[in-house]
Amino acid sequence: MKINISKAASFVAAGAIEALEPQVKAAQEALEQGTCPGNDFLGWLHLPSSITPEFIAEINETAKVLKENCEAVVVAGIGGSYLGARMVIDALSNSFGWLQPSDAPRILFAGNNIGEDYLSELIGYLKGVKFGVINISKSGTTTETAITFRLLKKMCEDQRGKEEAKKVIVAITDAKKGAARTTADKEGYKSFIIPNNVGGRFSVLTPVGLLPIAVAGFDIAALVKGAADMEAQCDVNAPLANNPAAVYAATRNAIYQSGKKIEIMANYQPKLHNLGEWWKQLYGESEGKDGKGIFPASVDLTTDLHSMGQWIQDGERTIFETVISVEKPNTTLEVPSDAENLDGLNFLAGKRIDEVNKMAELGTQLAHVDGGVPNIHISIEKLDEYNIGQLIYFFEKGCGISGLILGVNPFDQPGVEAYKKNMFALLGKPGYEAESAAIQERLK
Ligand code: PA5
Repeated sequence: MKINISKAASFVAAGAIEALEPQVKAAQEALEQGTCPGNDFLGWLHLPSSITPEFIAEINETAKVLKENCEAVVVAGIGGSYLGARMVIDALSNSFGWLQPSDAPRILFAGNNIGEDYLSELIGYLKGVKFGVINISKSGTTTETAITFRLLKKMCEDQRGKEEAKKVIVAITDAKKGAARTTADKEGYKSFIIPNNVGGRFSVLTPVGLLPIAVAGFDIAALVKGAADMEAQCDVNAPLANNPAAVYAATRNAIYQSGKKIEIMANYQPKLHNLGEWWKQLYGESEGKDGKGIFPASVDLTTDLHSMGQWIQDGERTIFETVISVEKPNTTLEVPSDAENLDGLNFLAGKRIDEVNKMAELGTQLAHVDGGVPNIHISIEKLDEYNIGQLIYFFEKGCGISGLILGVNPFDQPGVEAYKKNMFALLGKPGYEAESAAIQERLK
């Protein structure tokens, strides 16, 4: 993985990025020594290098049971309890999954919304399919996931009988607390623990991400190896210029301090759409607090050049762009020649589709820079487990450093509770009587 900030540095005062080096250093040391705000959630920091082959084998063993017994596996989880797995699986899968012969079950995601049609249609689809469930919730009480699991558990038991259903329902939750733990222990499900000191959005390299990714048929050992190599590269003692996470954190903070408040992650591969979704949660939930924080947005290019491209090129100049570029596609396809050339495309005949894409990328970068949009360029060699593992740790470490430079606790999310309190009050959850009365007054 490489990071190039040359087209971003020119937008801030000379030396502004380097001037943040002491803060970057202090942030890294605070993470390392556990002296920063949120220091009870630093389990992700050295997670990749601490994952043992035995642990990988245990996850793969459980994945094998699901693979052998299920045509589809529903991953029930929301936020940090599903976005990482979804991002990795999408990045590595065939774009049209149904065309790909594979021994892996189809992976479906649910428990991340409360759409009645979504759940009805899921249930309709599963009626004719042998399915299993991975129920993921650190708190074990998240409403979206809990409602979905209630529906799926009953359906799975009706389909297979209670005893058989137990073989294909796996819980990933807290060691002791929460309804998901109580249910797993009482029903005797295979379960994995989400470590106390790893927050949801930093949990993709725990069983939260690793089990669904393994069930989908991908090499989780290579994913972890990529992350571990990046962990070593982003070591606290590495000089700033050699530490990609530190460079990223310093650059985006220097740009933010210069007045640009929105960071747009752009990819040029449809498979990376959910990298943007995962990254938005990681940075949005970590930094958007205390009235501060870069707003993380994302676009899929070149697709969105035909929608958001106008805004990026000419709208309010409060944005900067972080581009994820994949150097080599995994396949080869050329633009064919055409004797009649009715579409006038023969100037492209014989060129790789990826060459066209790369020229679109370069042309867009030049145009956006001309339009006043600083550009951070991140490239990986190809879409595989190792490279995605590198990106995961790079962004996690960058987030920890960046949030501390910003002066917030990057590891809490107090703002997420506000909607839950109102929703529970409106739905009459026991214990919310006072809030319910106050809300009824406001709604009069
Ligand atoms: O990052 C976070 O902590 C959150 O996004 C959680 O992952 C999300 O709210 C789901 O929580 P839980 O795993 O407790 O169901």
